[in-house]
Amino acid sequence: MSEINFKGRDFISLADYTREELFFLLEQAKELKKNPLQPLLAGKNLALLFEKPSVRTRVSFEVGMNQLGGSAIMLPPEQVQLGKRESVADVAKVLSRYVDGIMVRTFAHSTILELAENADVPVINGLTDLLHPCQVLADLFTIWEKKGKLEGLKLVYLGDGSNNMAHSLMLGGAIMGLEVVIASSGEYRPDQSIAAKTQELSAKYGGRVSFETDPQAAARSADILYTDVWASMGQESEANLRRKVLAKYQLNQALLECAKPDCLVMHCLPAHYGEEITLEVAQSANSVIYDQAENRLHAQKAVLVQLLG
Ligand code: CP
Ligand code: NVA
Repeated sequence: MSEINFKGRDFISLADYTREELFFLLEQAKELKKNPLQPLLAGKNLALLFEKPSVRTRVSFEVGMNQLGGSAIMLPPEQVQLGKRESVADVAKVLSRYVDGIMVRTFAHSTILELAENADVPVINGLTDLLHPCQVLADLFTIWEKKGKLEGLKLVYLGDGSNNMAHSLMLGGAIMGLEVVIASSGEYRPDQSIAAKTQELSAKYGGRVSFETDPQAAARSADILYTDVWASMGQESEANLRRKVLAKYQLNQALLECAKPDCLVMHCLPAHYGEEITLEVAQSANSVIYDQAENRLHAQKAVLVQLLG
């Protein structure tokens, strides 16, 4: 373990971390969940920079910094106007003179990469159109807590196979040795570069990632059924089309019955009940959606302690 060093690193993609490093973060999250108030980041400040709305990401990072003895500064979209009021590079350079880390939620993934290239402090990805690594770290933590292991579990993600959640679940699953099945329509396949990276990671770590268009076949013997909204933030104008094309991937009772009886039902939230998931399934005994939301706090605190501490 002695070679593990997170200090000063960015947290932009799970693919930038090894299985050993991700397990280290999960162990730390477990410890921080038991002892939440530790002044490990006393005097440290984190900027929270948003181009899109948020409930969980904003509140969990802010509470996380407070519980660790530090502070967070909320910068909503209209205030900074990243790339409009001033350049991404200037925002990165200036914030680096004030704060010890920058958590950022952007539309284009290229924006976070440009920000990280120009920042002198760690940059944490609070969601881009391409990836959502903080959510998936919390999800891996939730699965690990509930199932006592990660390797070999079958996780089936249903719905938009081309969004940030699908991508980060593929990468995280490949690294941690899960079997990940993306069940979606052919129009909503994962990004090519993510699929290629996933193949590379699966070969290295022994995970398995595949694409399936038949939701029932995909869900068979699943340990975890996961879904997310069909139209992500920024895709609102496509919502009607996506509702039609993705209707058969709804996570409902009939699909849940294809999975193992102790299958976990997961959703990163926000949810559109009656679309990608029924309220019945979201409220069923299999559902762990609020544990996932809570675990954002513990998992991200582990990231903050390691990168900023
Ligand atoms: N799951 C998630 O990232 O939620 P928010 O968009 O509310 O932050
Ligand atoms: N795919 C969703 C995730 C929200 C947490 C979105 O990007 O809107």
